[in-house]
Amino acid sequence: MWWKNAVVYQIYPRSFADANGDGIGDIPGITSKLDYLKWLGVDVLWISPHYPSPQVDVGYDVADYTDVNPEYGSLDDFRTMLNEAHARGIRVILDMVLNHTSDLHRWFIDSKSSKDNPKRDWYVWKDPGKDGGTPNNWDSIFGGSAWEWDEATGQYYYHYFLKEQPDLNWRNPEVEKAMFDSMRFWLDMGVDGFRLDAIGTIFEDTGYPDHKSPYNAYDAIKAFWLGKEGDFDPEEVSQRFQWHFGLQQDLPEIHDLMKRMRQMIDEYDDRLLVGETSDLKYLGKGDNQLHAVFNFDLLAKNRLSPEIVRQNQQKWLVSVPHGAWFGNTLNNHDQSRTKTHYGDGVHDAELARVSAALMLTLSGTPYLYYGEEIGMKDYAVQSFDEVRDMVAAVYRRLMREDGRSDEQILKDLATFSRDRCRTPMQWDDAPNAGFSPADVQTWLPVHDSYAQGVNVAQQKQDETSLLHFFRTLIHLRKTTPALLEGSYAQIDPESSEYLAYLRQTDDQTCAVFINFTPDAQPVAYRFNGTKVLFSSGNRSSIDSVTIDLQPFEVLIVELL
Ligand code: GLC
Ligand code: CA
Repeated sequence: MWWKNAVVYQIYPRSFADANGDGIGDIPGITSKLDYLKWLGVDVLWISPHYPSPQVDVGYDVADYTDVNPEYGSLDDFRTMLNEAHARGIRVILDMVLNHTSDLHRWFIDSKSSKDNPKRDWYVWKDPGKDGGTPNNWDSIFGGSAWEWDEATGQYYYHYFLKEQPDLNWRNPEVEKAMFDSMRFWLDMGVDGFRLDAIGTIFEDTGYPDHKSPYNAYDAIKAFWLGKEGDFDPEEVSQRFQWHFGLQQDLPEIHDLMKRMRQMIDEYDDRLLVGETSDLKYLGKGDNQLHAVFNFDLLAKNRLSPEIVRQNQQKWLVSVPHGAWFGNTLNNHDQSRTKTHYGDGVHDAELARVSAALMLTLSGTPYLYYGEEIGMKDYAVQSFDEVRDMVAAVYRRLMREDGRSDEQILKDLATFSRDRCRTPMQWDDAPNAGFSPADVQTWLPVHDSYAQGVNVAQQKQDETSLLHFFRTLIHLRKTTPALLEGSYAQIDPESSEYLAYLRQTDDQTCAVFINFTPDAQPVAYRFNGTKVLFSSGNRSSIDSVTIDLQPFEVLIVELL
């Protein structure tokens, strides 16, 4: 179960490293940074979609599942990257987008060409509804109707995401076969597994009944964009999303599909399926559906507190079936970056270390997102021209229709557009942060923090940097069995200022203390007789029973 004990690092290929100097990240760029990733200590790379794509959803609109986006390089470049990663003991998992393809995928072009094309039934086509309009009132999660009219053949096609992302019809066995074959293509090449995109959305109710909800597409997109940040209370947001469930999301058929996919991947030795869901049902009995799902609950919170983390670990550790596992994550290519999201505007640097310490000492596989390790922050788009996330374009259209001013919309996008977390990786303090040559326009602007120490080169030189903090804890986790695979037990379940817990194997017990506050916190524990494994407060030993945890201190001791 290598995937249980791994530290995973997500690479957004368009933004990681640009080897050929065109302003766009690429596969040779990833290869050139493998030594860095090895130095950092990560075991697994999850690479966001690298396939040919018109990039309407930055690769999550796949036009060919068995090739490499020419902007990113060739299949040979990919093989080189994979082999070089393996040579360094680093595994590679790919992003498999199952629910939909690009509208420019050959399959959809064929499907759209006529009603009796053999591929017609590979997608979800429907006649107009009784009133001559859309077949029903279902909406796209990105805003607007889920149905797009095709004038030439007089039918609508269904898309849960953008209209450029038509849903595949997985009830057609040919679709399943074609997609499994695509997965085999990469597995045969030696790829170590897949992160499965948006699996909840693969099946729809074939009765296509209208939603009974009072909410419309406008409400839905508003909830999607604004929901987490306080315009709606969380209860209301969750109600607005509920109406997808059972009709457009999470149909029971998905679980038989996951079982068949598991059987397919089990023909290979030791590969991984991790699903983009927090739903434990996808783990099946622990050996018959996915290997792992994500603990997204922490990422849904605006601030972390000891109570939230305690409840969260408790919940996951009691509910994950034997043989399956879960990943912890605080940010990804869809979400606000950790340093921005969990910051308070005053202690952002300290809170970024608290977050890192959580990821690397809790139970659950850490999934880190590129740039998290140097404290990259969200980027605020400055103009509509800068926006690359097309969901933002849908938002702009809907909000304009609703009478929101452009000025207000741009302000919203500066905070919420997913571009915020997708800017180029910051490698050094040269113009363009060493991502691309200085005179090139990068596909998204480089965050100007690169010039203020938020870059790899500078932090590598500085042993007190966030980068070294990550690296030290990654190495500590990997060399400390209790942190890697030990059980979890709370030490002080009452404190709302600090988190304290034990990680324990048969042979080793560690105690972890994390102060979430800017104040010293007195903690009583049998510290005498422990060995300090890590202290951000620079302790080397403790000979008293009570200590004052320093502001935001992270302290890890081993019980002797
Ligand atoms: C997932 C991806 C997101 C993408 C969507 C549609 O949620 O994480 O980036 O837009 O699926 O593929
Ligand atoms: Ca490039």
